[in-house]
Amino acid sequence: MKNLVTHIGARPVEQLAKEFGTPTFIYEKAVIEKRIAELKAFEVIRFAQKACSNLAILALMRKNGVVVDAVSAGEIYRALKVGYTAEGHPPGIVFTADLFDNDALELIVRHKVPVNVGSMDMITQLGKVYPGAEVTLRINPGFGHGHSRKVNTGGSYSKHGIWHSDLEECLRLGNEAGVNIQGLHMHIGSGSDYHHLSTVCDAMVKAAKRMGPQLKVISAGGGLPIPYRKEQARIDIAAYYSLWDKARKAIERDAGHPVALEVEPGRYLVAESCSLLTQIRSVKSSGGNRFYLVDAGFDTLIRPAMYGAYHEISICPADGRTVGNAFDTIVAGPLCESGDVFTQEEGGVVTTRKLPEAVAGDYLILHDAGAYGASMSSNYNTRKLAAEVLIQESGADVIRERQTFDAILQFERVPKNLA
Ligand code: LLP
Repeated sequence: MKNLVTHIGARPVEQLAKEFGTPTFIYEKAVIEKRIAELKAFEVIRFAQKACSNLAILALMRKNGVVVDAVSAGEIYRALKVGYTAEGHPPGIVFTADLFDNDALELIVRHKVPVNVGSMDMITQLGKVYPGAEVTLRINPGFGHGHSRKVNTGGSYSKHGIWHSDLEECLRLGNEAGVNIQGLHMHIGSGSDYHHLSTVCDAMVKAAKRMGPQLKVISAGGGLPIPYRKEQARIDIAAYYSLWDKARKAIERDAGHPVALEVEPGRYLVAESCSLLTQIRSVKSSGGNRFYLVDAGFDTLIRPAMYGAYHEISICPADGRTVGNAFDTIVAGPLCESGDVFTQEEGGVVTTRKLPEAVAGDYLILHDAGAYGASMSSNYNTRKLAAEVLIQESGADVIRERQTFDAILQFERVPKNLA
């Protein structure tokens, strides 16, 4: 029957659940390494760690020759912790943002982290504290694309990037501020398909022409889609690469020297590597609708509630029994909000999924939860952050222990008069 699984990464689901508890994010190292290998045509793979910034995942990236992007001081700190440095070409760490907060600026200066600036003010601010800084310009080409309005990163309503017509002004500011503008970056939306890419590549070639010979690196950004639905086709990486490589070659001809090409995927490298293992705690019906209530909510995986994102769902019977029928089912979590539903479309429309018959105690797996799963989770309803486990050849290792209540409360203080 469809949507039934017994194993994750060759390990019995029940054994994983008993050993690590639920809910737990279970990553498979082999899947991540396979995705990295698929992108090897790009001379630089820069992991957008916002998708999954666990130290073990970063260490795995580093071991495989993947460099990282950081979008906050905390993400720079993580990268440093696993041994990345900002030195060299390509730099191990690049900071991408539309503004500097004080923490970020301090770490950037201390560790000489190159910056991919998304706002003109950043050029002047950086020049004041870090003259000679290496800078790339994140350009908003004036159009965008994305799997949801919330992740569309181009066009005039996007807060991201420098408006394309401001490029010359940036170069002038760069000269004035004494920073070294040497690259262009365009990330126009997550989930973009490669048909749309030729427009982006054309925009990059045009921007590069205006930049002139100081251009040394271009970045294609991230946004490589993955097939969240079983029936969706995989992106054709060779076609994707060849479009960008063609653009790079045109740019090299204009610049008269080699130009490095970077790609900056988050989702593509990690999404499919991870299953969110949950347990069904209640099966109930309300007004004719059938519900599986599981022990993970949008505090654990927010994508369905936030974007109406689709994740494949499977069931694993706890007692190994044979399962008969499949039913239209709503899958929901424990939070005190009606929006805490994993089967929903954008706009909060609750839908059903045909799922095998299950009883309380069975396991339910949300697939492709590796990108923007753990990294977007929260303590809403004072629930512990889930555990994370990495399956390798050598065994299954905890890479994040389940949080404790004391850890959640550790920075809260009750003033004396209220105690
Ligand atoms: N580079 C930049 C500058 C970005 O802003 C992003 C994503 C990426 C790379 C990586 O995009 P990816 O390859 O992962 O699609 N939370 C949303 C996605 C937000 C993406 C934000 N920026 C989700 O769960 O789908």
